[in-house]
Amino acid sequence: MVKINRRQFIILSAAGAGTALVANQLGKRTIASQPLPQSSANLAPLYQSSDGLLELDLEARERPVNLGGRQAYLLTYNGQIPAPRLEAKPGDKVRLHFTNNLSQPTNLHYHGLHIPPTGSADNVFLRINPGEKFNYEFNIAQNQPAGTFWYHPHLHGLVAEQLFGGLAGLFIVRGELDEIPEIKAAQEEFLVLQDFSLDERGRRFSSMHMSLMMGREGDVITVNGQVNPRFSLPAKGLLRLRILNASTSRFYRLTLEEHSFYQIAIDGNALNEPIEVRELLLTPGQRADVLVKGDQESGQYRLLNLPYDRGSMGMMGGRGMMSRNDRDLPIALATVNYKSSVESLPLPTKLASISALPEPQTVRRFELNHGMSPSVGMAFLINSETYSGDRLNTQVQLNAVEDWEITNTGVMDHPFHIHVNSFQVISRNGQPESLPAWRDTVLVRRGETVRIRIWFRDFTGKTVYHCHILDHEDLGMMGNLMINA
Ligand code: C2O
Ligand code: CU
Ligand code: CU
Repeated sequence: MVKINRRQFIILSAAGAGTALVANQLGKRTIASQPLPQSSANLAPLYQSSDGLLELDLEARERPVNLGGRQAYLLTYNGQIPAPRLEAKPGDKVRLHFTNNLSQPTNLHYHGLHIPPTGSADNVFLRINPGEKFNYEFNIAQNQPAGTFWYHPHLHGLVAEQLFGGLAGLFIVRGELDEIPEIKAAQEEFLVLQDFSLDERGRRFSSMHMSLMMGREGDVITVNGQVNPRFSLPAKGLLRLRILNASTSRFYRLTLEEHSFYQIAIDGNALNEPIEVRELLLTPGQRADVLVKGDQESGQYRLLNLPYDRGSMGMMGGRGMMSRNDRDLPIALATVNYKSSVESLPLPTKLASISALPEPQTVRRFELNHGMSPSVGMAFLINSETYSGDRLNTQVQLNAVEDWEITNTGVMDHPFHIHVNSFQVISRNGQPESLPAWRDTVLVRRGETVRIRIWFRDFTGKTVYHCHILDHEDLGMMGNLMINA
């Protein structure tokens, strides 16, 4: 049952309505439309490498935190929501002394980094039990492009639950893109988007109460652990927003009132030149770096999340009327304030030069769908198979260039993600992709076929690809990928 607080009760009585259903809608509406801007937006602590080394202790633990002004019992790294931001440079060594003080096994994945999938690097097959410690150690390659990457748990079966509990943080690689004078001069802000579902005492609901088929979504949306924080934009200047969708299942369709976004990077990786967009669609796992020009009248502008329909399984999805209403509302995620003006700053022109990959040696096909699996019940499938730990679904040769044609024959959208190597989108439904970009997660909408090209570079070993709606991943929409020497 949803408890009605006093203010909502007054609103309810005034409206003369009295059912729990309406109460819940009003509750959601209150969250959606009441901006409570807070003063400062970047409170997460930061760990930067020095003398070529990024070294820190990282502890996963459940604890009470302040989430948007209320107490919440969440899963944290070092007690922080979002987790501490890590920053390194190409060529650095990373040493992370990890302690698992959760009540479940866990591990760490470094989403988007080009590092080995084995040993003590980006190894999602590690299982670190409660009370255990593990030392992660890896080198960031000299040719690792700068970008917005991130880390989160990746133990199959528990990924959605642990991420939804709050375990996610940025991993920034500083490099060439950051040295472009116009970008360097921009005011830089990080936006980690997370959603939570809490009872009135601030406790997380158990997974049993979530619509896992649809992919769990929470009604409290936070940016850097805050509800509607404020960011300042220097008049005539540039604001660089580095946005991560760290939600388990929620898609964000972002727009900033009266402003365009000039996108400079996708999934952390620089584009050839900025492209102007009014809206940004970010699926779980995806990142966008954008510049905003302070060229409007001084004032406050809301960063809005617009509704997006990612499909549903009808009754089976377990989404009632209320969630549908909720989805129809634009929600203010943050507020951008004009502040003191600066010397007028131009946009950068050239950002990177992305070369096309050579023709593929192999073309593979992947079909995303869901269905009944004898052992699991309702399951999410790739090529009719649900994930099994020891099956090698796909084997590739080191240095091969391959095209993967991913078709979604289901009724929900699936963002497809591959570990270790990023890829280029070649076509969507047979239409060539016009924007050259390196990505690690691509949206395959229901009914679509997306062709990507991938070059398996530098590292051999076993890793995974999966849907980044992490409930779908946990329910089987994942495959093992073996990169052979
Ligand atoms: Cu961010 Cu395998 O995922
Ligand atoms: Cu990943
Ligand atoms: Cu999916």
